[in-house]
Amino acid sequence: MNDLAGKHIVLGLTGGIACYKAAELCRGLVKEGATVQVVMTEASEQFITPVTMQALSGRSVYSSQWDTREANNMAHINLSRQADAILVAPCSADFLAKLVHGGAGDLLSLMCLARPIERVPLLLAPAMNREMWAHPATQRNLQQASADGATILGVGSGFQACGETGDGRMLEAQELLEDVVAFLQPKLLAGRKVVVTAGPTFEALDPIRGITNHSSGKMGFAIARAAREAGADVALIAGPVSLATPRGVRRIDVQSARDMLAATTAATPQADIFIATAAVADWRPATQSEAKIKKDGSGAAPTLAFIENPDILATVARSDRARSGALFCVGFAAESHDLLKHARAKRERKGIPLLVGNIGPLTFGQDDNQMLLVDAQGEQELPRAAKIVLARQLVAEIARRLPR
Ligand code: C5P
Repeated sequence: MNDLAGKHIVLGLTGGIACYKAAELCRGLVKEGATVQVVMTEASEQFITPVTMQALSGRSVYSSQWDTREANNMAHINLSRQADAILVAPCSADFLAKLVHGGAGDLLSLMCLARPIERVPLLLAPAMNREMWAHPATQRNLQQASADGATILGVGSGFQACGETGDGRMLEAQELLEDVVAFLQPKLLAGRKVVVTAGPTFEALDPIRGITNHSSGKMGFAIARAAREAGADVALIAGPVSLATPRGVRRIDVQSARDMLAATTAATPQADIFIATAAVADWRPATQSEAKIKKDGSGAAPTLAFIENPDILATVARSDRARSGALFCVGFAAESHDLLKHARAKRERKGIPLLVGNIGPLTFGQDDNQMLLVDAQGEQELPRAAKIVLARQLVAEIARRLPR
């Protein structure tokens, strides 16, 4: 993936045991295509060496404001002006306090103070013991740092290096990476509420067995992530899949089509956008046995009868809010052939403004896909790409079609 291609990140390390995670974070940023300039405080060098950070970033590390490598001897100006973002990870309680007071006694705090505040965002990944985190001084400093324009990336909870358990751990490298990628995406859906259905449904026959399908949920999860990155408040209604919940997304797990319908109709009255990617079972067993259906030894197989499931998308699309345009509905069509013809017909039948066609066997379980967008104006192809890339493009297409 190249989610940070062309981006230049200044990665600042301050004194804390979480410096060990900064090594992996640096590697992750580079892997995503960013160039990374590491700046370390003196305290951070007690935890990890500049040698490690230089090897991982491929650039020599800066730690002193008196560094003579810069021709004008102004590392704090030069380094901060080149950055797309300054990320301080870990950000110690002491460094946070320093920032809040406009301290500038070391290169990193000096850079944070000297950065052009409108153009170079400052992201802080706090890391400290739970008592330090909960202390009113820290909480006050966090609020002040945020009021001064910094973005606080939050903390994890759990076992701490000091042996105590609670809030204040630095987020994991992968979590921070996702947060940085999200932060740098355009906020096309800021203030919007989005509901996404994803994955298969499971229609129980008895307590042991049921009917489902091969939908992996990857496309819907990618769309939920992309909508969140674009600044939306996202509810992800997921059938049984084993995928990690995208950061910042509210996930509601369901089993059957009827559960999915109930969760969806509860969420969509507050939403601006509904995106139905779920592969909902068309039929469910007419009866669900309370006990496991057993073989009776006669060799006779049970006779199964089915009834049709509700069409979630069509139900939502019929609501007053959808009809008035207050709720923008997007459907998916997985076809095996004649994609354009089927996609057009399905858009009409479901009564929705936008339908995304894809070829079933080319998308199920895959990490990439290609899409055909069909609306009242015509159609548009989104060529084969990673699902998250397509999801971001789809989000942009939806944002373009929303009422202002
Ligand atoms: O009719 P078909 O299943 O091909 O339509 C696919 C679209 O409708 C998808 O967006 C899917 O999530 C949605 N759908 C639904 N409820 C159903 C069947 C499909 O929301 N029962």
